[in-house]
Amino acid sequence: MELTVAITGASGTIYAHRTLQLLAESGVVETINLIMSGSAVTVAQVEMGINLKDAAVHEINDWLDLDPESRLIRLWRLDNLAAKPSSGSNKQDGMIIVPCSMGTLGAIASGAGTNLIHRAADVCLKERRKLVIVPRESPYNSIHLENMLRLSNAGAIILPASPGFYHRPDTIGELVDHLCFRILDQFDIPHSRRSQWTGDEVT
Ligand SMILES: Cc1cc2nc3c(=O)[nH]c(=O)nc-3n(C[C@H](O)[C@H](O)[C@H](O)COP(=O)(O)O)c2cc1C
Repeated sequence: MELTVAITGASGTIYAHRTLQLLAESGVVETINLIMSGSAVTVAQVEMGINLKDAAVHEINDWLDLDPESRLIRLWRLDNLAAKPSSGSNKQDGMIIVPCSMGTLGAIASGAGTNLIHRAADVCLKERRKLVIVPRESPYNSIHLENMLRLSNAGAIILPASPGFYHRPDTIGELVDHLCFRILDQFDIPHSRRSQWTGDEVT
């Protein structure tokens, strides 16, 4: 599989970090086109203490605990509108925006995007490929909600960063995994399924 993963400047860099790790562990993803907004870099610094500004692939691999020589991640600059994910003729399997800021959400919903994240998402919608958007804001105003409805009507999956608690997480890691598993499920990508509801939990 080939996927595009975009990280934007909403809170929740940890969701992006873990999603990328799970995609790498899955064994079914060969290429990840990774795009980060400038604000994503700021939030990553605030929330995870990591400086990803102008990071090279080996630094991203290091952040994700991947082999330094791993060729899984392909990094694309935000202003590179000639990059691979910007063309519908690049036959990829879809895109995940995790976490997705209200700014990026609005730009895609308007159809008037200005950067590679907006363009790659627009391409997914027009080519009818899977676009999973993980919005994060609280509370939402009606503009945010209308933008989400607009994108859902255009074919995007709105998968909010709202982890469940019914699997009784003991750690933040388990809470984060629960949400990231739901993202992988959208693409039928295998994971441990530790937090999958079986129906046997309530007697
Ligand atoms: C620490 C921090 C946390 C933020 N959290 C959110 C958030 O949860 N949701 C959101 O929509 N914007 C949030 N923002 C604001 C966005 O980063 C800002 O609107 C930015 O312009 C989004 O740009 P981007 O969509 O290109 O990443 C946050 C900013 C900072 C610095």
